[in-house]
Amino acid sequence: MARSSTQFVCQQCGVNSPKWSGQCSSCKAWNSLVETVVEKTSRGRTNGARGMGKEPIKLSSVKSADHSKRLQTRIGELDRVLGGGILPGMATLIAGEPGIGKSTLLLQIAAKIKGKVLYVAGEESTTQIANRARRLGIKGSNIEVLEDTNVDSVVEQASQMSDFSLIFVDSIQTMTTSDLSGMAGSIGQVREAAGRLTSFAKQTGIPVFMVGHVTKVGSIAGPRVLEHMVDTVLWFEGDRNDLLRILRAIKNRFGATDEVGVFSMEEKGLHEVRNPSKLFLGEGKGISGSCVTAVLEGTRPMLVELQALVVPTKLAYPKRSASGIDSRRLELIVAVLSRRAGIPLWDFDVFVNVAGGIKVTEPVADLAISLAIASAFYDKPLLPKSAAVGEVGLLGEIREVSQMDNRIKEARRLGFTNAITKREVKTIGQAIKKFISNK
Ligand code: TYD
Ligand code: MG
Repeated sequence: MARSSTQFVCQQCGVNSPKWSGQCSSCKAWNSLVETVVEKTSRGRTNGARGMGKEPIKLSSVKSADHSKRLQTRIGELDRVLGGGILPGMATLIAGEPGIGKSTLLLQIAAKIKGKVLYVAGEESTTQIANRARRLGIKGSNIEVLEDTNVDSVVEQASQMSDFSLIFVDSIQTMTTSDLSGMAGSIGQVREAAGRLTSFAKQTGIPVFMVGHVTKVGSIAGPRVLEHMVDTVLWFEGDRNDLLRILRAIKNRFGATDEVGVFSMEEKGLHEVRNPSKLFLGEGKGISGSCVTAVLEGTRPMLVELQALVVPTKLAYPKRSASGIDSRRLELIVAVLSRRAGIPLWDFDVFVNVAGGIKVTEPVADLAISLAIASAFYDKPLLPKSAAVGEVGLLGEIREVSQMDNRIKEARRLGFTNAITKREVKTIGQAIKKFISNK
């Protein structure tokens, strides 16, 4: 490949400069210069006009993508998130924190898929990858591992062996091109490497999956800059101390973005969790301080259990500790319970937790949080088989929520036949009276 010249381009105002500096000379933004390859084309245009020169065509004559050509990973939870499988030429980014299980997922996809897979290992040695495969019980006769960090030689090798069904690059932060002088992992290198791999996918039709690490600090500096380049961004998340893993499409040019895949990380790799409700339901049946609700993950209703503990305190500012729910939401609910339901929580510490380590952001959990707290306060369990679905307003009124029927259906399916919603009770006070036993 001909060596191209590079420029440092300000990401804020677009000004070019031949040398790097900490501050843009034009717009004065800090750390905004990124090394970029500039290719002069015959028309004198720079970057962006690469290899095009196509004629316009009638929109009506364009065929829609043939979705029957989707390559199924045969991992149901993943195929659903992808919108049915992998399409030819699709460029996908799998982003997540280090150690969450991205490499494990790749190997498990490779093991299941029909056809040959090229695994480009930039981070780990072939031995490490082979060890992981052994741990997962994967023979891997269809998997070839290429230890390389030079994106151009990867592309060249991959072009020569065109019989691959799928290419994995683990990780994009280790890939570099010698056309740029920046270090591996710098924005310029990461973006250029991803750009080259994406064009490779488009030209050959071979789908490419790139792993992108996300760090807690500075959150997504790496993968975020790639989001607009790839077709699909899968976010792999979960608590490292917990088994639960959730795969979410946050961008999908070929499918919906509201589906999630649920896995658990076990001794021998990732297991699909087909019935997530079961996973999130704690052992709180018949115990005070517990209430079940139905949240939506994507389009799927899922039952989760809210647990509360209420203990007397002498603190001037009693503790309000929330895990898995927003702490401001908890403050608000505590205030509503104090004023509208006559529970003197100002003398009590309140702890609320979501069983199973999942995060609940929907306000539909309000009613369940309120009932869990009230049940903990009175030390009386909810009536058996109860599940609460509803938002609670500042007046203590219970509000209707979206997709109520779906949520209730899921609750029924798992044996929670006693629905507590706006249809049964109008206020939080009534809900406490009616559904907490002996109250
Ligand atoms: P890994 O796939 O290496 O994560 P990433 O590529 O996202 O950095 O997985 C790392 C963690 O997963 C590691 O802490 C060990 C754990 N793990 C299991 O619990 N079971 C398994 O079968 C495997 C392969 C890994
Ligand atoms: Mg890894």
